[in-house]
Parts: sequence; C-alpha cells; structure tokens
Amino acid sequence: APLRARNTFGVSARAAWLVEVDDARALPDALAGLPDSGPPIVLGGGSNLLFVADPQVPLLALTGTRIEVIGEDDERTLLRVDAGAGWHDFVMETLARGLNGLENLALIPGTVGAAPIQNIGAYGVEVREFVHAVEAWEPATGRFLRLSAAECAFAYRDSVFKRERDRYIVTAVEFALPRRAAPRIGYAGIGEELAAMGVTAPDARDVATAVIAIRRRKLPDPAVLGNAGSFFKNPIVPAAQAEALGQAHPGLPVFPGDASDRRKLSAAWLIDACGWKGHRDTHGSGDAGIAASHALVLVNHGHASGQELFDLARRVADSVNVRFGVALEPEPRIVGASW
Ligand code: EPU
Repeated sequence: APLRARNTFGVSARAAWLVEVDDARALPDALAGLPDSGPPIVLGGGSNLLFVADPQVPLLALTGTRIEVIGEDDERTLLRVDAGAGWHDFVMETLARGLNGLENLALIPGTVGAAPIQNIGAYGVEVREFVHAVEAWEPATGRFLRLSAAECAFAYRDSVFKRERDRYIVTAVEFALPRRAAPRIGYAGIGEELAAMGVTAPDARDVATAVIAIRRRKLPDPAVLGNAGSFFKNPIVPAAQAEALGQAHPGLPVFPGDASDRRKLSAAWLIDACGWKGHRDTHGSGDAGIAASHALVLVNHGHASGQELFDLARRVADSVNVRFGVALEPEPRIVGASW
C-alpha cells in the first residue's frame, strides 16, 4: 500500500501489509494471518511518523470512531472513545456537549488513540489530566487490558505506551471531563488572543477559538506544507545547566522541568538561535526545510524523502549540541532509522 497520503510529512513509502480494523475485538484474528515479521506499526493520523525507509512490518489502522457516555456524576462525564476517532473532531464534540477540559488541545492533528501514547499537550494543558483509563490489546499475551491513568505512567510527551513501544495496541480511551472548570488562559499568547477577540469572560469554546487561531498562524497546515508539528521535544536539563545557559544567553526561555532540580528549555529558541528558521536545503530534492513560522517544525516543501528530512533534522540537532551543549530528541516516531 502507498503511504504518501497516510503521513502528514507527505513522504513516499510503501507498506507490504496494511490492515484496517473497525472493531478492536477483531484484532487477534486480523493479525493472526500476517507473516511474523515483527509487531505491527499502528498508523493513526500519520501526524507523528517519519518514514525514512519502507516499513518491514505490517501497518495497522484502527478505524472505529464511536463515542459513548459510560458514566456521569454532578461534576463530570465519563466518555469512552474508539482509538480511530479524529482528535480535533472529538474535542469539538466534547465542547458542543458542554464538557470542558480539552479546549486548549484543539486542532492537534492525529487520532484519539494516539493522544495518550505521547501525552499530547499544548497551551499549558496535557491530555493526562483528563485520561481516566486506556483500553489496549497486548499481542504477546492476547489479552485485552484496561490501564488506569496511574498505570499509563504519563510524563512530558511520554507514557508506558511510548516507553514499551510494541507492548500494547491502544484500542480506546476513557476521558473524565468536567462540566464546570475555569478556563486555562495563562499560557503565553492565549490571553492576548482572547483580548484581541474582544472576549472578557471566556468560556471553553472561546479558548478553543483562540487556540485554533494561534495554531493556524504559527504552525503550517500539513495539507499545504508537509510536517509533523514539533519535530523535537523541548529538552529537559539539570537546573544548574539551565541557569548557566540562561546567563550566557539572555532571552533563552526556561520553564519548570519534571522535577525540582530540572528545567525545560525551548527547543524552538535554540534552533532559531542557530539560524535555521526558514532554512531550505538546496541539495537533493531541495524540498527539506525548517518552517519560516516556527523553528521547531521540520517541513517538506514537496518531494523531500524521509532520508533527506532525517538528515536535516540531524544537522539541526548537531548544531544545537555544538553551540549549547544540549541534545535534542525527536518527538515523532522514526521508521527505518535510529536517532
Ligand atoms: N520560539 C522561538 N522561535 C520560534 C518559535 C518559538 O524562539 O521560531 C520561542 C519563543 O520564545 C516562544 C517559545 O519558543 O515563546 C515557545 O514557543 P511555543 O509557544 O510555540 O511553544 P513550543 O515550546 O515551541 C510546545 C509544544 C507544541 C505546542 C506549543 C504550545 C513541544 C515539543 N511542543 O511548543 O506542540 O503546540 O508548545 O503549547 O512540547 C507538537 O507537539 O507537535 C506541538 C506543536
């Protein structure tokens, strides 16, 4: 099966096997007939994947999109959503139902099933806060499991599903969403955007509108310019290193890290400072580049190969390492090469 239209980088690649499954209960049978070439790669929206070479294992797409109410009390509603539902459509559906919480995560590409895997986050919110449980199938044992939020071991852009990459196939996600919650507008840019919209007492839908406007301005639309959002994670470094860097480079943004002695740096700022923003390779296809609107976004201007994009990403990371002594790690899954 051709994969160009199934990854948001728009990179050409080919899969020998592509299996589509609507009802997750059919997974064991659907995968039983395939050659034992290794655990399948689950293809969601293809928005967090870089094919550097053709995948040598089967690709699996879960196509179910059902949303069910599975519980309710005075404060919140529990929803169970099939892994194949589109993330942004789901967010808009929750807002239409008067449920809060996911508005800051509007317009993130990809599927509901992919959301907990890398604990998607934006504008001061991570999805972990609203994940009640994750349903998964474990190919090694053939068991269907339900992992509590604690068992998912969420961290910044990370979870048990990412750390133990091939252990689980996420089949559905259960969310607990509050009906009343104060909007979260502290993240840089949202308050200003709401003010520009003339909104003084924003509700969740106003916040979603503001987030959508900011994302449209800053992040290239993959339908127009191939990309996978942030290509690198924001690096988390020891506090002492962050402090020294901050002194040497005034203006470097430093955020709280995952522990009191750790800090998160802005990968975009580091890349920008190395002069990459708006860069476009002149060799090869001439189509691998870095977005002019955001230094963290690797882009395909048309016919870049996965290898060309990977090579550019390596050069970017190497230059940041030479100049700042900080190692950048890619955020998307890379198929056919190791970082
Ligand atoms: N900046 C630059 N140059 C740029 C862009 C940004 O110097 O070209 C600096 C600015 O100082 C800016 C700061 O970086 O204030 C932060 O930029 P931004 O608000 O765009 O956030 P980010 O840290 O670059 C993260 C997420 C995004 C998410 C935004 C908004 C990661 C890897 N990325 O980006 O998520 O949308 O915050 O919350 O954590 C994604 O994961 O694909 C993604 C787009």
